[in-house]
Amino acid sequence: MSSWTLEGKCALVTGGTKGIGWAIAEEFLLLGAEVFIVARHAEDVEARLAEWKGRGLPAYGLRADVTAAADRAAMIAAVEQRWGRLDVLVNNVGMNIRKPFADYEEAEYRSIFETNLFSVLAITRLCFPLLQRSRGASVVNISSVAASVDVRSGAPYGMTKAAELQLTRSLAVEWAPLGIRVNAVSPWYTRTPLAEPVLRQPERLEGILRRTPLGRIAEMEEPAAAAAFLAMDKSSYITGQNIVVDGGMMAGAL
Ligand SMILES: NC(=O)c1ccc[n+]([C@@H]2O[C@H](COP(=O)([O-])OP(=O)(O)OC[C@H]3O[C@@H](n4cnc5c(N)ncnc54)[C@H](OP(=O)(O)O)[C@@H]3O)[C@@H](O)[C@H]2O)c1
Repeated sequence: MSSWTLEGKCALVTGGTKGIGWAIAEEFLLLGAEVFIVARHAEDVEARLAEWKGRGLPAYGLRADVTAAADRAAMIAAVEQRWGRLDVLVNNVGMNIRKPFADYEEAEYRSIFETNLFSVLAITRLCFPLLQRSRGASVVNISSVAASVDVRSGAPYGMTKAAELQLTRSLAVEWAPLGIRVNAVSPWYTRTPLAEPVLRQPERLEGILRRTPLGRIAEMEEPAAAAAFLAMDKSSYITGQNIVVDGGMMAGAL
């Protein structure tokens, strides 16, 4: 029996400097993986890497904007140079602009699609040759409960997250014969910089808590734990699935 570990795995986590992506990188490192992170702010990348290296953890990374083709190419080239393969890809980067549907400018909804969906497509395709060189690769897409129900986060965001779930199912089937598993994690409200503007509003917070049977907001370690499980060989027979990390929200009706 294998154990609950990521020992020997090399993982790329997009958006690993803050929020859920940071928690995933931290969890992976503590479970024995080597981790490569990217984010747009070079100083944040440097600060995270220095902190992990100071603790003797094998973390690497660079500044990259996942919406820029040249940055994506540089990121994959750096990963290939370091490891020559990739065991785990975590497509974590996501953003949102929250508005009533009719108020979106075209540039706004296109930017949501560029960041949350088209960059995921492009990065996953670029990683494919590296994932094929792994002995047990796993892709983990960070989607959202907004993929499945309306949570007042705006239609374009939910549309991108729903498409990411369908990508998860389609690739799971297509890549299963190659030994590459593809799964998703769908958080509900989680205490991160992205969710902060919503959680700061007492009325919204009260409504969210009322809809959450566990009666609290998720801490970022909680979706990170689900991502770690899906990255491990312990979940070797699980592909095409979506683990919802929502404190019971989707199970309820209020
Ligand atoms: N928090 C929630 O309540 C919640 C709920 C459901 C789903 N999710 C999903 O979980 C994922 C992570 O969300 P989060 O709340 O942790 O977000 P966050 O707090 O805003 O953190 C996002 C991370 O991604 C990086 N990033 C953002 N845009 C980037 C880009 N274009 N290129 C490269 N890096 C970029 C950020 O660093 P830089 O700013 O330096 O680039 C940061 O490290 C997203 O896909 C989100 O949709 C979150």
